Amino acid sequence: MALSPQWLDELKSRITLSTLIQRTTKLQRAGREWKACCPFHSENTPSFTVNDQKGFYHCFGCQAHGGAIDWMMEQRGLEFMDAVKELASEAGMEVPAPDPRAAQAAEKRASLHDVMAAAQDWFVARLRSDEGVGVREYLGRRGLSQRVIEQFGFGYAPDDKQALKKALSQFDESMLVEAGLLISVEDKLPYSRFRGRVMLPIQDQRGRVIAFGGRILENREGVAKYLNSPDTPLFDKGRTLYNIHRAGPASRKVDRVIAVEGYMDVIALAQAGFEDAVAPMGTALTEQQIELLWRMADKPVVCFDGDAAGTRAAMRAAERTLPMLRPGHSLQIVQLPAGMDPDDLVKRDGPQAMERLLASPKSLLGLIWDREHSAQPLNSPEDKAGLKARLLDHVDAIEHPDIKSLYRRELLERYGSFAFPKREFRPQAQRGKFQPGRAEPQRAPPHVADRLRRAAGGAFRDMLTQAVLAGLQRYPGEVHRHADSLLRLSDSDPQVAQVVDYLLDNAQLLEAGEEPPISPSGILPPPPDNTRFTFLVEGSDPGAAREDLAEAVSMLVERPALDAAIAAATQRFASDPEGAFEEQQRLRKRKLEISERLGQMARKRAASAAEEDYPSDVADVTADEQETD
Ligand code: UTP
Ligand code: MN
Repeated sequence: MALSPQWLDELKSRITLSTLIQRTTKLQRAGREWKACCPFHSENTPSFTVNDQKGFYHCFGCQAHGGAIDWMMEQRGLEFMDAVKELASEAGMEVPAPDPRAAQAAEKRASLHDVMAAAQDWFVARLRSDEGVGVREYLGRRGLSQRVIEQFGFGYAPDDKQALKKALSQFDESMLVEAGLLISVEDKLPYSRFRGRVMLPIQDQRGRVIAFGGRILENREGVAKYLNSPDTPLFDKGRTLYNIHRAGPASRKVDRVIAVEGYMDVIALAQAGFEDAVAPMGTALTEQQIELLWRMADKPVVCFDGDAAGTRAAMRAAERTLPMLRPGHSLQIVQLPAGMDPDDLVKRDGPQAMERLLASPKSLLGLIWDREHSAQPLNSPEDKAGLKARLLDHVDAIEHPDIKSLYRRELLERYGSFAFPKREFRPQAQRGKFQPGRAEPQRAPPHVADRLRRAAGGAFRDMLTQAVLAGLQRYPGEVHRHADSLLRLSDSDPQVAQVVDYLLDNAQLLEAGEEPPISPSGILPPPPDNTRFTFLVEGSDPGAAREDLAEAVSMLVERPALDAAIAAATQRFASDPEGAFEEQQRLRKRKLEISERLGQMARKRAASAAEEDYPSDVADVTADEQETD
């Protein structure tokens, strides 16, 4: 709908900004302007000003700035058109409708709003009447205060198929059906959808009733506890958050919004003083709902039951959010004690218990790590490789490049310190061959050097192994850090084991300030011509070289583990074809990533040494990973 600038000017001129703002924010006269503590950030001295002449507000503290329409959008959380419409209705102006079909639809929605408002009034009146005595008792038993009952618009739908239709006879029956209040099936008189239920109005951002949730009074097997309105021209379940019109302004002020699972959680929290809670309507959070939450606060806090189902739900929310992540926006997760919802918690342990949980939410990344880390046993290298593949799968889902690489880094760091914890190793030096700390270190007999040279000079299983071992020779200070990985490699390859022993012993002696028994150079062959890893090339930045070396070591260890995991998944095919297939896909993908990464590491060097022109055979390093199983 295109609105002309003239029309918008007219609208602005009819609205007194201070009057609009006064409704939710206390203003004080200050000369020709108004002053207040800013509703957009927390402060004790007023830096928020309103100028009616110019028709704008401005905060000197947080730079919030805008006119009447901005106010409705920023403070009330309305969409542009909704803001315009609400202001127009206040100013007594017609929003121009561009084409008759849209006008018709708008008219219909308007009358559906009337239907819903009338239904809401009627449900509330039923609750107050004699009919409502049982419900009033029920609400009392649940500990709801009169104030909250009124504030949240509780009502009662009597157990009667025709009562609502009679009471709302001023509307066409078809309208009541379209509003979702009556159910119409062939050959039957349309009848009330909600019968014998406590009624809760669901409102849009402007506070208009767009749907209802109805709860039975007595939990009964086979009867849905809550019945909700179907989707209607007014109500799109996936785009709605329960309580958004109250939570919105509260949230924007404290930059926090709490998403819980149920209506009653929202209400119990409000009664306990948490005004910024919303809930989806019995479904997992949708993308649109996440966007709505992000308009209220940068890092919405999502609450889940601490049991298995709750954890799964939390992961679903996390997975939906990952592709949407953008700078400054994320989710935080609070897990409640198992089997409790926020309603139960504040009832049993008071608001402080909720405050405590809210004070230390889990980050999105923390949730993913915790969840994947405890999802399956992690005893074998195959299990560990599986964990890594799952973690990287989540990273892959992130679209924003910076956030993606930060997640990758942090998750791999956690993975690394879990999968390869620093453990004591006993280098050969302590096993009696070389004795560090002795006055005179024993020289290795010449034939040891010969044997080593033969071992190192022979064909290693692949270039990567050779490159890494040569790299460690150049950076003996790095050897200890990778001791675990190196020992693991030794287990599977005696040729590697000899070199690793030598590297460990040397590193030990160097650390003890001793002269190594064998000159570190000259044992291992020079790096093959076509491997351009930073850690093998003269003049590389030592920091970068050490980091690349660490990455290469971890890939070297990961590769055989991945192969084993793929083999294990193949074995599982008969019993769990789908799971095994998925796992295999994931592992294969990871293998491919390793190859690509290795190629990249080599190319990175090439790029930094501009004048050198490397042939494309850098990829040779990875040639042996390319072959598939
Ligand atoms: P809960 O069962 O957690 O709701 O379902 P609650 O608010 O804690 O309910 P009380 O405390 O027993 O009254 C969470 C949400 O799932 C939807 C509702 O939106 C509910 O608030 N739901 C649940 C349904 O739509 N239908 C159902 O039968 C049950
Ligand atoms: Mn509950």
